[in-house]
Amino acid sequence: MSKKQYKLIDNNDIQWFIELLGESRVISDKALLYDYAHDETEDLMFYPDVVLFPENSIEVSKILKYCNEQLIPVTTRGAGTSLSGGALPVCGGIVLSTRRMNKILKIDTDNFQAIVEPGVINYELQKALEPYGLFYPPDPASWQVSTIGGNVAHASGGPKAVKYGTTRDYVLNLEVVLANGDVIWTGANTLKYSTAYNLTHLFIGSEGTLGVITKIVVKVVPKLPYNVLLLYSFLSEIDACKAVNEILLHHIQPSALEFMERDAIEWSIRYNDIMNVPISDSTQALLLIELEGKSFDQIWKDVESLNTVLEKYSLASDPMIAETEEEKNTLWKIRRKVGEAVKSNSVYKEEDTVVPRAALPELLKRVKDIGKKYGFKSVCYGHAGDGNLHINIIKGEMRDEKWNKELPEAIKEIFGTCKELGGTISGEHGIGWVQKSYLPIVFSSAHFQLFLGIKNTFDPNHILNPNKIFPDQW
Ligand code: LAC
Ligand code: ZN
Repeated sequence: MSKKQYKLIDNNDIQWFIELLGESRVISDKALLYDYAHDETEDLMFYPDVVLFPENSIEVSKILKYCNEQLIPVTTRGAGTSLSGGALPVCGGIVLSTRRMNKILKIDTDNFQAIVEPGVINYELQKALEPYGLFYPPDPASWQVSTIGGNVAHASGGPKAVKYGTTRDYVLNLEVVLANGDVIWTGANTLKYSTAYNLTHLFIGSEGTLGVITKIVVKVVPKLPYNVLLLYSFLSEIDACKAVNEILLHHIQPSALEFMERDAIEWSIRYNDIMNVPISDSTQALLLIELEGKSFDQIWKDVESLNTVLEKYSLASDPMIAETEEEKNTLWKIRRKVGEAVKSNSVYKEEDTVVPRAALPELLKRVKDIGKKYGFKSVCYGHAGDGNLHINIIKGEMRDEKWNKELPEAIKEIFGTCKELGGTISGEHGIGWVQKSYLPIVFSSAHFQLFLGIKNTFDPNHILNPNKIFPDQW
């Protein structure tokens, strides 16, 4: 994609932003910019020139209109938990923080909907819905800190997706500020939508490259009152992956069905200093399975069915069962912190592969074969019920030269395998900065022409999250 010549921000621009927002909502002091120079992607660092904290769509509109006229890049940022570099201001310019647009505007208990601003933290929405017996199913591992706006921008998933679907299935309508400052609603607050092109879905997963989302209408659902969490052990990773499909083919519908290979759980247990979750020596992989229901009787019937399906796997006959909130929180903590645990262990590269779920055992087998071929170790875990495998490639003692030269080739093979199995290169983390060069593996130049047409229509000056998604060679 052609490189734009952006304007360098000067004092006049900063004065203009201060007049609009006041000094307290404009940061340009280099020491304070550090927090906005990185997200959770590896150790990548790109400093913005200024960070702005608008409070509503009118302010966002004025900022975008100005930046569009002046050719200043704008990177929108929620909590900065992106794992694909989505929040990195790689061309400098402005980081537009949604932190002060953090109000839950309405909980509509008649229609099971909520209207929120983009900076609302996922967990805060869950807490606000609890008194009504409702919940918002998309629950990325980062849910205690990540924002709904960021979740929409990345089409985030989470453990509950196996039963309830991802963010894509819960967003009904979006208020969006376009690059030229125009403000639109993308659709309607309805469960059905057959009214011309669906702009709502175009914006979900668009990673801040098409506009700035300023209000979000989401669907919420009644929460089932009871659940238990079970941890099943397996003699091999492939057995655990095969069991995933068997469970679902027996019409057992877990509300989470998560895979962790031995290193993933061991590293997380160590990282979190957890003493009371023993893993037997022969365990090579585990499935963390949540079952929920209207009554415990119903859940225990499902547990019995699950045990019957899994009894042929020798270690799986004796799952660890978490019934109290404390026990469940411990197991969830282990699972949700695997990514952090890996990060604390070694330089690594995370891939967010996804295939049709029956192809999961084949994907895992081929990933391990590719690892052997190139001489790298991987730690795999993820949302097995969705066929979504997070592959953490570990640098360990590998020389920099080998890491830098051979790793991209290995990743291409992994992504090529995903495509061959009917999958794609990201299920929930997005393309952003770190995956963009691999996009031609799954898209042709015909796709690129369409993508570029969309980008040019919404953001003709390419000021919005520039140099993301589109590979340099396109
Ligand atoms: C998880 C994040 C990395 O599933 O997506 O832990
Ligand atoms: Zn995940």
